[in-house]
Amino acid sequence: MESDHWGRWQGGGHMQADTLEELYAMAVRLGLSRAWLQSKPGRPWRDHYDLTADKREQAIALGAIPITARQAARRNSAARRAYLDTMAERLGTARLELWPLSPAAAAALPDGRDEAARLIGARLPPAWPGRAVLGRAIPMQAKARQDEARFGIWVIVRRDIGVVVGDIGFFGPPRQGAVEVGYSIVPEHRRQGYMTEAGTALVHWARSQAEVDTVLARCDEDNQASIRTLERLGFTRTGQTGGQIQWRFPGMP
Ligand SMILES: CC(C)(COP(=O)(O)OP(=O)(O)OC[C@H]1O[C@@H](n2cnc3c(N)ncnc32)[C@H](O)[C@@H]1OP(=O)(O)O)[C@@H](O)C(=O)NCCC(=O)NCCS
Repeated sequence: MESDHWGRWQGGGHMQADTLEELYAMAVRLGLSRAWLQSKPGRPWRDHYDLTADKREQAIALGAIPITARQAARRNSAARRAYLDTMAERLGTARLELWPLSPAAAAALPDGRDEAARLIGARLPPAWPGRAVLGRAIPMQAKARQDEARFGIWVIVRRDIGVVVGDIGFFGPPRQGAVEVGYSIVPEHRRQGYMTEAGTALVHWARSQAEVDTVLARCDEDNQASIRTLERLGFTRTGQTGGQIQWRFPGMP
């Protein structure tokens, strides 16, 4: 707790931190229940605990840094801006919403699932993220600058139940006008047309970016689900090597 994480103090006051984990950890040290967190949906930058004057003194003794009301207002407004920036790029389809996974949410995974869910703004099913994304894509997303995150992982959220049903995204910013797409839907939500819906939206988003001309894809030659999905999305095969099929969108003229 080295910087100005802490909210307004008037006798007692608000206790805030940069991450939910950090806030929970201090709450536990102060003997507060995690459940006393004051949190409003869609406003994670304001998460706090209300402290009595005694608890405030205890928190300071444990390393909390008191700040003025003006500093707290500045901190909250910077945290709000950072959060809203990550939410600005959002695509809606009939049943789904898609947006780039924020680097902060990626950094919270795999252990800080509560924190990640809070930053994403949707519930996470146990099967998400799958091993394939956790291994490489999530750590890369955690290191991405905010403006690079849109060429990384996007979460796919079912609007009716507010649950992440999968992910789709790119293996990095465009190279010579080309991006490569990858995707997955958690097992219990497969075969309901979600990837067709999400893929259509994201491929069109990619094509609308000035720096993108072509969207590429690869899949194993025995991955029938992926082959059929790419066909549904309008990709055409361009080759087959090493057990993999290469695809592009749009097809060659
Ligand atoms: C590939 C995957 C994302 C498809 O997601 P989905 O939401 O189930 O796909 P959709 O419901 O939109 O189906 C798209 C098409 O694929 C077909 N399909 C889906 N699963 C299939 C399967 N297991 N076998 C054969 N066809 C399948 C659908 O019938 C549909 O074609 P149709 O409209 O002609 O009937 C999903 O199976 C998955 O996550 N697989 C594991 C991860 C993976 O392989 N990712 C791709 C790596 S290249």
